[in-house]
Amino acid sequence: MSTLIVVGAQWGDEGKGKIVHLLGKKADTIVRYQGGNNAGHTVVFDGKKFVLHQIPSGILQPGRRCLIANGVVMDPWALRDEARFLESRKIRVKGRLFISAWAHLILPYHRYLDALRESGQGKIGTTKRGIGPAYSDKVGRVGVRLADYMDPPTFRTLVEQNLSAKAPLLKSLVSLAVLRNETFKDYDSLRRFFEPLMADTPALLQKDLAAGKNVLFEGAQGTMLDVDFGTYPFVTSSNPIAGAACVGSGVGPAAIDEVLGVVKAYTTRVGDGPFPTELKDSFGDALRERGQEFGATTGRPRRCGWFDAVVVRHAVRINGLTRLSLTKLDVLEGVDPIRVCVAYRIDGKVVKDFPASRRAQAEAVPIYKELPGFAGPVKGITRYQDLPDAAKKYCRFLETEVGVPMALISMGRSREETILLDKSFRWIP
Ligand code: IMP
Repeated sequence: MSTLIVVGAQWGDEGKGKIVHLLGKKADTIVRYQGGNNAGHTVVFDGKKFVLHQIPSGILQPGRRCLIANGVVMDPWALRDEARFLESRKIRVKGRLFISAWAHLILPYHRYLDALRESGQGKIGTTKRGIGPAYSDKVGRVGVRLADYMDPPTFRTLVEQNLSAKAPLLKSLVSLAVLRNETFKDYDSLRRFFEPLMADTPALLQKDLAAGKNVLFEGAQGTMLDVDFGTYPFVTSSNPIAGAACVGSGVGPAAIDEVLGVVKAYTTRVGDGPFPTELKDSFGDALRERGQEFGATTGRPRRCGWFDAVVVRHAVRINGLTRLSLTKLDVLEGVDPIRVCVAYRIDGKVVKDFPASRRAQAEAVPIYKELPGFAGPVKGITRYQDLPDAAKKYCRFLETEVGVPMALISMGRSREETILLDKSFRWIP
């Protein structure tokens, strides 16, 4: 039996979808434990591109079981559409996908509340999928869980309570009647759809672990968007970090063997908030074009910058990363010199640990180390020894700076475009 958590070690969009798809070959069960359809996991499979928002990327791995666990907030309409889309592409979902009865739902009023907040002063650049308001309701103890959705009298009572509290706040955007209609839209057919999918996911996982199966926990977003340890308040409303895999799926911490952090060879971020190594110049624009850095969920251009070792060291500590997977190394081909941020200057002092204060995060000035660039082409290389020396030096420098070994290097979206470095890593296919 082996368990692995895969997390993003930056601001999300590190390329977790491909890595989960690759390592998922060894998994029996793949679990999403937080976030909702704000995520966009891109996987190229059989030459076709799939962007998954709620269903674990592991669904593309034939025969694997996928769980949407209790820590996720789930949009019923979006989930049904995603399942239908996969089935239309001959990816079997029925009998393989199970959704926790304990998972909270995103309902139309959550999306309106998100839009309302984003139209005002507290705007943080969310995906407007209703994620924050759904999690607010969960911790505010007025949320609706899948088990409650499936029980019509309970669902109706909860919705009426929520609508009477929220409709007045939303009256500039939508009437109570429209809101009620939207909330009950397709209710009967959705219940029929969810009936075979709803499950006691902690019980399924307990059985898997007892039977010695391999379980992969797939994080969404990234460490710097974590509501506790990210760039608060410019964060998502869940904990994408490894510790949340236990709370978010109902397994104990002793069940976890390994934590793999996915890092991009440079840094990107979507939405507002501090980003010390951001390149607000033509080189930043060039990185965006070369790396095709546009949001998989909203299509927004991603902000681009140099690799920030302060950020990744923070991720190593908070997640207890045991290995790294580096992605998009090929995008840096021909860039000379390559810069890596090794510390910040804040209030005249050199700081090596990511600060908690929002002012310090906003004012941090990166201190860079310059490394020689490498010429290509590196794309297509599948053996580490074939990489140019400067590319190898870059990888080794990153490992030393953050203190965790690299298990994989990815240079393209398909599974073949990967260097498998560490044969002792049991998840390598
Ligand atoms: P929310 O999660 O939609 O509330 O958005 C909060 C912040 O997280 C915004 O800056 C979003 O751009 C960012 N965010 C949410 N999901 C993702 C993701 O999957 N990748 C990258 N950024 C994300």
